This record gives sequence, structure tokens and C-alpha cells, in this order.
Amino acid sequence: MTRSSAPGKVYLFGEHAVVYGEPAVPCAIERRARVGVEPRDDATLRVHSDDLSLDGFTVEYSGSTTGTPDIDVAESLVDAAMGYVDEAIGQVRDVTGDTETGFDVTIESDIPLGAGIGSSAAVVVAAIDAASRALGVELSTDELAERAYRTELAVQDGQASRADTFCSATGGAVRVEGADCRSIAAPDLPFVIGFDGGAGDTGALVAGVRQLREEYDFAAETIESIGDIVRRGERILADGDVEELGELMDFNHGLLSALGVSSRSLDSMVWAAREAGAHGVKLTGAGGGGCIVALDPTPETATALRYLPGCEEVFRAELATDGVKRLE
Ligand code: PMV
Repeated sequence: MTRSSAPGKVYLFGEHAVVYGEPAVPCAIERRARVGVEPRDDATLRVHSDDLSLDGFTVEYSGSTTGTPDIDVAESLVDAAMGYVDEAIGQVRDVTGDTETGFDVTIESDIPLGAGIGSSAAVVVAAIDAASRALGVELSTDELAERAYRTELAVQDGQASRADTFCSATGGAVRVEGADCRSIAAPDLPFVIGFDGGAGDTGALVAGVRQLREEYDFAAETIESIGDIVRRGERILADGDVEELGELMDFNHGLLSALGVSSRSLDSMVWAAREAGAHGVKLTGAGGGGCIVALDPTPETATALRYLPGCEEVFRAELATDGVKRLE
């Protein structure tokens, strides 16, 4: 079996503003999806995963992409994961020119699904890397990121940013501005992530911000101010001043909140983390529900979130300096 792993990500700064050409800084986190592939004699794709879990449910799925899963929980999540793997293998067929070989694919992931922290990008990056290597082709990191981006674009009906897939392929901190993605220097970042068990509707949240921006100059200025935070944040990252980074994260959250993309549960996790002494904390991703990310080297924030009603899951994760990893 050929196996690869790839990390999930959080946004340190800049989500939403990135849609209007401002820079953003996503960071890979040491929570990974691992994908193993075994070439088959026929062209069939079979996917097996016994830990695509969410909310404590463990979903067992084993079948072809055209089969009906014999499960009754989180079916749509499994279907979604299957769609990503199917398209990822399509990209591998395209890049290797081998359309005859099928695969048995095994997925293990410790990134909560559907939580806005890049689980699909991690599965896609690891799947493309493992399957292309199984066919004797080693893709460069740029080619891998590009193929993973095309996979997300196809599955998400043309709505995908390069941030998740690039960050998962390269690891570390990344600066994204339009189609320009590159790695930037960053110190150790002790993240604590809180998940409220929900997810916002990204399309609706992006549309809401667009409307505010068209209606009010001060909303447009808020978006530009987020860009200013990102530009300052990049310099602070290079200096390694974690306390000032935290201050900027707090500011970024306030501006996202002003743009209407926070929620009661996100705000209550943000306040619990702040009161526990985190250097800084903000929502990550589209908002409306989902995850917050706090910067805190002590155990206090994780403990406070663990006992907070409405916080379904909490975990610590360092910045993942490695992106895709080739496993034995
Ligand atoms: O929730 P995520 O991780 O898919 O991030 C969405 C980020 C937005 O800036 C809100 C939208 C985008 O496509 O950049």
C-alpha cells in the first residue's frame, strides 16, 4: 500500500477580505488525514474509512463510488468525502495518463469533518499524492497543490479558493493574495481549536459581506482594515512575537463580527478563550458557526472550552511545518 498524509488548516488572518483581493494567512495545523491506496487490476474505485467521525459518531463505509452506503448516520458527509476522492483519482488519471488502474483507498482522518478546518483539502492532497506515487509518478508540491485545487473546484461547482489545498500541500504559514500563494516564515504557534459542532453556509455568508460592502463605505473600509491587519500580521509572524499576533487576531475577530459573520456560539467560545488568558482568538473560515482558533501555550484555554456548553470538541494543534508527508 502507498500512503500519504496531509494537514488541515486554520486562518490566522484574512478570511472574507481575501475575496476582495486583500491578502490572507492560513496556517497548516498538526491534524492530518492519511490516505492509503492499493492499485487494482480493474478500473474500480473502492473507498474504505472507519473513522470519518463527527459528533462522536463513527461511520463505517466500504463500497464503490456508485454503490449505496449501508449507513444511516452522517451519510452526506461520507458521500461528500467519496465525491472528493473520486475527483482526486480523476486528477491522478489525468496527470499520469493511466486510466485503466483502479484503487482500493483507505482514509483515516483526525480532522473533524465539515468544520471549516480543511478536512476535504487534506484528504484530496493525500489521495492525489499517494495514488500518483502508486502509479510511479512523483508530483512536485506545486503540481500537487494545483491538482488538489482543481479537484475542489470540480466538486464545489467552481467555488474554491487555493488557500486550503496549497496550505495542506506545503504546510506552514501561507500568504494568499488572489491566485498568488506562497509560504512565509512563522514561529511555533500553539493553537487551541474549539468547534461548536455546526457549520455556516459559506455562500450566504460571503454574499452577506458583499451586500454590506456595497451598501456602506465603512463596511468596505472594514474589509480594507482586515487587509491592514494581515499585512502587519505577516511582519509580526516573521519577528515571532506571539503576544502581538494574538492582539491582531482579537482585532481581526472584532472586524469579522462587525461584518456579521460571527455567531453566538463562536462569540461565546471566543470570550471563554479570552477570559482563560489566550493571547488572542478569532473565528476561522467562513463563520456563522464552526471553529474558533486561539493562540495559547498554556492548558487554560483548552480546559475552559472543554467545560463550555455549546463547545462540542476542543483540541490543541501546533503549526504543521510539513505539508504532505510520504508514509511507509
Ligand atoms: O470556511 P472555509 O475554510 O472554507 O473558508 C472560507 C473563507 C472565505 O474567505 C470566507 C471564502 C473564500 O473562498 O475565501
